[in-house]
Amino acid sequence: PLVTTKEMFKKAYEGGYAIGAFNVNNMEIVQGITEAAKEENAPLILQVSAGARKYAKHSYLVHLVQAAIEDTELPIALHLDHGADFEVCKSCIDGGFTSVMIDGSHHSFKDNMELTKRVVDYAHSKGVVVEGELGQLAGIEDNVNVSAENASYTQPEQVEEFVKSTGVDSLAIAIGTSHGAFKFKPGQKTQLRFDILEEVERRLPNFPIVLHGASSVIPKYVETINKNGGNIADAIGIPEDMLREAAKSAVCKINIDSDLRLALTAGIREHFVAHPDHFDPRQYLTPARANIKELVKHKLVYVLGCNGK
Ligand code: G3H
Ligand code: 13P
Ligand code: NA
Ligand code: ZN
Repeated sequence: PLVTTKEMFKKAYEGGYAIGAFNVNNMEIVQGITEAAKEENAPLILQVSAGARKYAKHSYLVHLVQAAIEDTELPIALHLDHGADFEVCKSCIDGGFTSVMIDGSHHSFKDNMELTKRVVDYAHSKGVVVEGELGQLAGIEDNVNVSAENASYTQPEQVEEFVKSTGVDSLAIAIGTSHGAFKFKPGQKTQLRFDILEEVERRLPNFPIVLHGASSVIPKYVETINKNGGNIADAIGIPEDMLREAAKSAVCKINIDSDLRLALTAGIREHFVAHPDHFDPRQYLTPARANIKELVKHKLVYVLGCNGK
């Protein structure tokens, strides 16, 4: 069934694991992810950005997710990723989503609270849950590029007031992850501020925390891309052991998009180099979809720990 994240997060918090929130943009991505979740019997969040809605259109994405639910019979939440304003959140709440993120992290603390509360009040009146954000991640999303210098960690002393006054159901925090495939410079120490996470956890007992920018940028896929005509230099992600550590904590939702993109692209590039004569999309999208499935199975079992839950 199509569900909210309420029950999922409660179980994840208590069980010391995290739910994967995977970005979807087309049928092959939806199928690769949901086939993996079905085989691993894992709860799942499929999330859609404003860019995804622009690319594929709202109703195609909603119906693809509905088809996946029919096919897998899994509990799946459909979530708006990085909602920028009240209107986009309302459009998704009215349009069949069970969860939305209002990303007010670029605003002042006060404006973020006001905006988030407005979305929460509307969402809750319709049975939809809301993710808010405090602190800014570096990286690119919907063509907004936040430089590493402008990124800022979540300030733990703000979280209680924010959660209390807005009524949000979960909170995304910034502890050193970032969006995209270039999270650390070569030679730079790959570090996350687990001390901030611990302080947030202490101040918000039993409250689900969300980690954005959590792709590992798995070297296997980057190498396959680069060996088959691609040119992605110095792509570096979050080490898997750090994500495993986060999954054991209050972190109940881990966002993954870049790893899907890399797996899909690796499959397509490898196929084209092996078969330069192919031009039927089913030929090159089949291995691309299989890569997504393999990647997601790996995440569910070895990183998130949500298989069989
Ligand atoms: O956080 C950003 C996600 O990876 C979505 O990216 O806005 O390009 O669809 P997008
Ligand atoms: P990645 O770019 O690390 O996959 O992060 C995705 C994300 O946070 C989507 O909201
Ligand atoms: Na957890
Ligand atoms: Zn994000």
